[in-house]
Amino acid sequence: MSKTIFSQQAEALVKTQGKIEYNLAGMSQPKDYSGPKGPYVEETDLTGPMKLAQDKMDYLLSTTKNRGVVADDAFIDLRDGGTDTKGLPGKPIMTGWLDYAEYILKNDAFLDDLKKAGDKIADDFDALVVIGIGGSYTNIEGIINACNPLGTRIPIFYLGQHLSADAYQNVFNQLKKLDGKVAVNVISKSGTTTEPAIALRIVIDFLEANGKLGAVFATTDPQSGALRQTVAERGFNPKEYITEAVEKEFSIGSNIGGRFSVITPVGLLPFAVANIDLREFLLGFHYAMENLQEEAVKITAHKYAAYQNGADTAVLSYNTACFRLKLLGFRQLWPECNGKDGKGLNLMEEFYTSDAHSNGQLIKSGKRNLMEIFHFVDDLGTDFDVPVSQYNLDNLEIVAKGASGAMSLHAINNKFMGALLLDHWNSGVPVIAIKMPKLTPFIVAMGMGLEFYQATLFGLILGINPLNQPGVVGYKNIAFDLLGMNGAEKQAKGFDALSQFNLK
Ligand code: PA5
Repeated sequence: MSKTIFSQQAEALVKTQGKIEYNLAGMSQPKDYSGPKGPYVEETDLTGPMKLAQDKMDYLLSTTKNRGVVADDAFIDLRDGGTDTKGLPGKPIMTGWLDYAEYILKNDAFLDDLKKAGDKIADDFDALVVIGIGGSYTNIEGIINACNPLGTRIPIFYLGQHLSADAYQNVFNQLKKLDGKVAVNVISKSGTTTEPAIALRIVIDFLEANGKLGAVFATTDPQSGALRQTVAERGFNPKEYITEAVEKEFSIGSNIGGRFSVITPVGLLPFAVANIDLREFLLGFHYAMENLQEEAVKITAHKYAAYQNGADTAVLSYNTACFRLKLLGFRQLWPECNGKDGKGLNLMEEFYTSDAHSNGQLIKSGKRNLMEIFHFVDDLGTDFDVPVSQYNLDNLEIVAKGASGAMSLHAINNKFMGALLLDHWNSGVPVIAIKMPKLTPFIVAMGMGLEFYQATLFGLILGINPLNQPGVVGYKNIAFDLLGMNGAEKQAKGFDALSQFNLK
C-alpha cells in the first residue's frame, strides 16, 4: 500500500497521542528459570513461524492489488499441509478491510454528513438502540465504552445479541423513563440473523406501543440481504439524516466480513452518535494497516510458536473496566477466524485484579497450556489519591497522598498488573505486554487493526480460511427445525432428540 496524505495525518496524531507498543521479551523463559515446563518460545522456535507469518502477510497484502482478479479459490494455495480444502472456494476474498479506511477517508462529503447525522440523532432523540450480533455488534459497544467510559451524550442501548427476555425488559424499563423518542440502528449484513431480526420486531413494537418510535436506520449489505429489500418500503434511513453522500456508502461492503466491519458504517453511525471522532478512528486503523505489518508478523510468529509448544489458550488481561467489551471484540474475532478444522486458539478474558481472586489461581498453577497478553493503559483521564488514614492497619500509608512514595489508584492498579505479569511469567506462562498511552479512538482503532492482521495471519498459517465462519450454521439449522421452520416432520424429530436430555 502506498503512503498517502492520511499517513502524514496519522503520523501527526502519533506525535500528540502516542501509539500502541508491544513487548515480546516475556515470550521466552525467564533467566535461571526453575518452574514447571511452560510453552515458552526460544529463538530457535521462531525461524519457521517468522517466515510463514511474513509469507502470509505478503499474500494478504497482494489481495488488495489484485482485487477482482485473484482466483476465487486462492486460499487453497495458502495451506501448509492443512487438511481443510473446503474453505468455501468461490466466495469472494473478504479482505476489503485492508484498504477500506483509506478509501472512506477520501470521502469528505460522507464523513461530514455522517457526523452531522450523528449530531442530529443526538439532538432529536433521547436514546439510540443498536441492534446486531457477533461482528455486527461487539466492536461497536466495545469501542464506544472504551472511548466514553463515563457515558455518551445520549444513552445507547444494545439488543439483538441474545434472546434473553430479562435483558429486553431491563432496557425497556429504562426507555420508558425517557420523555422523547428513541432512534434505532439495526445492523445485519444478511438481514436474516435470528437474534437481530427478532429484536427489530420486538423493539419497534415496544416503541410504537409507547409512542416512542423515532427514526430507524438499517445498515446492511449493499445489494442483497433481506433488510435491504425492505429499507425503502419501511421508511428506514430517512433522508434528513442519511443524505445522498451518506446513502451511497451506507452499507457493509460485500468484501468485508462481519467481524471486520466496524470500520464501515456498521460502527461509524453509532460512533457519530457517540461523538467519536470518525476521522481519528479511521486514521488509527489506517495507521495500523500501513505501519504495523512488521509488528503483526512478529507477534503472530511468537503466538504461533507458543501454540506449537502447547499454548492452546491465550489469556487477554486488562485492568480497566471500560476496556472489557473491546476485549470481547477480540474474543469474537479470533475464534470465529481460527476455530476450524480441529484447530484454533482459545481466548479467555481476565479483568484484574478482580479475576486474580478467581481464575488467577488456574493461570498461576493450572495446566501449562497458556500464553497471556497484558493490556496496560497509561492514562485513563481520571484517577484518585489514596487518602491519609490515622489507622494505617492496611500498611498503605507509604502510597497515601503526600507520602514520598505516593501513588494514585491507577498507578497502584498498574503495579498489580505488573506483579501478575511477573508472577505468571515465572510460573510457566509466556507473556506479552501491550502498552496503550490512552483509550482514544485513534489508539483503540490502531490496536484493533493490529489484531485484525494477527487473527488473519494466524489462520492462514494454520492452513484455514480465517475470513469465513462455516461452523455457526449447524446449530441454526437445528434451531430452525425445532421452531418448526423446516416442517412438522423435522420439528418432531428435533423434539425427540431433545427428549433424551429431558428437555422440550
Ligand atoms: O463475523 C461475522 O461474520 C459474524 O459474527 C456476523 O457478524 C454475525 O453472525 C452477524 O451476521 P449478520 O450481520 O449477517 O446479521
